[in-house]
Amino acid sequence: MSENRSTFGSRFGAIAAIAGSAVGLGNIWKFPYVAGENGGAAFLLIYIVITLLISLPVLLAEFAIGRHGRGNAFRSFVNITGKKGAGAIGILELLGAIFVLASYCVIAGWSLEYIYQSVAGGFHGMTQAEMDTKFDTFVASGWRPIMWMIIFLFFNAFVLVKGVSKGIERCSKFMIPALFCILVLLAGVNLLQPGFQAGAHFILWPNWSVVTGKTVLAALGQSFFSLSIGMAAMITYGSYIQRQESLTSVGVIVSLATVLMAVLAGLAIFPSVFSYGIEPTKGADLVFKTLPPLFAELPGGYVISILFFILLFFAALTTSLSIMESLVAFFSEELHIKRIWALAIGFAIIIVSSTFCALSQMPDSQILVGGATLFDWTDKFCSAYILPLGGLACVVLFGWFVPHYVIEHELTSSGKTPLWIYKFLVFMMKFICPVVIIILLVNCVLDYFGIDMIQSFMNMFA
Ligand code: PFF
Repeated sequence: MSENRSTFGSRFGAIAAIAGSAVGLGNIWKFPYVAGENGGAAFLLIYIVITLLISLPVLLAEFAIGRHGRGNAFRSFVNITGKKGAGAIGILELLGAIFVLASYCVIAGWSLEYIYQSVAGGFHGMTQAEMDTKFDTFVASGWRPIMWMIIFLFFNAFVLVKGVSKGIERCSKFMIPALFCILVLLAGVNLLQPGFQAGAHFILWPNWSVVTGKTVLAALGQSFFSLSIGMAAMITYGSYIQRQESLTSVGVIVSLATVLMAVLAGLAIFPSVFSYGIEPTKGADLVFKTLPPLFAELPGGYVISILFFILLFFAALTTSLSIMESLVAFFSEELHIKRIWALAIGFAIIIVSSTFCALSQMPDSQILVGGATLFDWTDKFCSAYILPLGGLACVVLFGWFVPHYVIEHELTSSGKTPLWIYKFLVFMMKFICPVVIIILLVNCVLDYFGIDMIQSFMNMFA
């Protein structure tokens, strides 16, 4: 194990980089919508409880594997268990990382195109139909999304080539506060909108009547995705956390910061949507079709539109840095090559996979897997299977196969965290988290075959 490995230079730097990985497109375009559709504040409450009880122990297991293993995702598993075979979990996570990054870079490229479009002329006065055509034509052009995706990758390379502390940490220390300020500003401008009350009601009013078992599973899936669990990123970043740092407090701060950012994103988006009587949606349609003309109508609309797409770009960049860094650390440490060459390999892999993703978005694309575009497939397959599988492997391995003194040392940060928290975390890691994640996985498999697990379970007792 190398003791000369880079680390984050400060506590704030570590938190900014980790929060940067967590707060991504998912927090901005999906989380607020999922929260609104699933009971608003009721969902948020369930989400926070689930995050602290289930996702946090998994996240801490990933941090601890990285910090104790002191290596990339593959090497950390080998080091912490002393068994080469355990490295297979790291490889699975790295493959998941490649899949996620492939579609992530394409979307990030779209945000660059829309920054350009906002600066060049804005979206003022455009109808929804015109926006639909604009976006569809852009995606169908093929070469243009690919060009922006490559430019986005160059931004990644520019930061990553400088290393962990001078590159990732420095960039995150600027971008995460900037992201927060933009969100506060956008939410502030939305405060003056006629639809503010409806928007705030959508995500902040507790509606317990829509809460079912499915809500809890949705919260769990969203929580895993938001915290970047099961994709090598948190193991790699964990390996850069200084030894004296309390993993538990870093984990809690990052978890709560992601919820705060998602709520702010909801307040920055939905009041405008409700002001025009439009049905709330999520994903690319919301961000690239519905919102631009609405934002253009706001006071200072020209600047607001630019800021919104910069926000999207920052969120995507800080997230992609964590995934790309997982690849860079893997190649440089396993192939014993310089960081720059490892970066070149990672860059090449992502350019190829992202290009396929972008091409699969074209209207007459033949690049389909199981009837879905490669783009949708990478997204769904990773969120539904690789992410919970990776998380499951981490908690089981950490809870059951790592020596006790290592677990205690890592989770109490050499005695700094109270013993009862440590005991509680170990209990969750060993018994509760694995069972809950298996339920989530079974639900995903059954869902694929059109079977409603919760309903079938209820029917058994009816
Ligand atoms: N946390 C990111 C988001 O919410 O957009 C998604 C993500 C990033 C998942 C990194 C997995 C990962 F390794």
